[in-house]
Amino acid sequence: MSRPQLHTSVYPTIAPETLGHANKGKVAVVTGAARGIGQAIAEALAKSGADLALLDLDEARQAETKSRCETFGVKARTYECNVLSVESCERTFLKIPEDLGPIE
Ligand SMILES: NC(=O)c1ccc[n+]([C@@H]2O[C@H](COP(=O)([O-])OP(=O)(O)OC[C@H]3O[C@@H](n4cnc5c(N)ncnc54)[C@H](O)[C@@H]3O)[C@@H](O)[C@H]2O)c1
Repeated sequence: MSRPQLHTSVYPTIAPETLGHANKGKVAVVTGAARGIGQAIAEALAKSGADLALLDLDEARQAETKSRCETFGVKARTYECNVLSVESCERTFLKIPEDLGPIE
């Protein structure tokens, strides 16, 4: 029987190297983008060429994620959005296509 192993690196399927520029021209929405896992996902998607709609409770706290994404030459816009609120999500998802184009 194989022993359990701790996996601490990015799984190859979703590694930015694997994705290449597969998402160039697409618009991706990332929630919880100000820090942690959301920030890492946003950067990986930016590296694969996607423009980013960055959502979090506090728009100002996303400045670091925005500038990290922009280093890959993509567009990144920040939105104050509480994903637990239908009204907040509806408002945000109407604004995103106006700023970045259709979400893919
Ligand atoms: N860190 C881990 O090892 C791990 C493992 C499994 C699952 N998760 C889950 O993944 C998610 C992200 O984890 P993390 O470690 O990056 O968390 P984190 O607390 O570092 O970051 C979460 C981000 O989400 C934002 N956020 C919280 N509530 C929100 C809301 N209602 N609307 C919009 N934004 C909101 C916060 O402001 C914050 O920027 C969490 O749900 C966590 O439980 C984390």
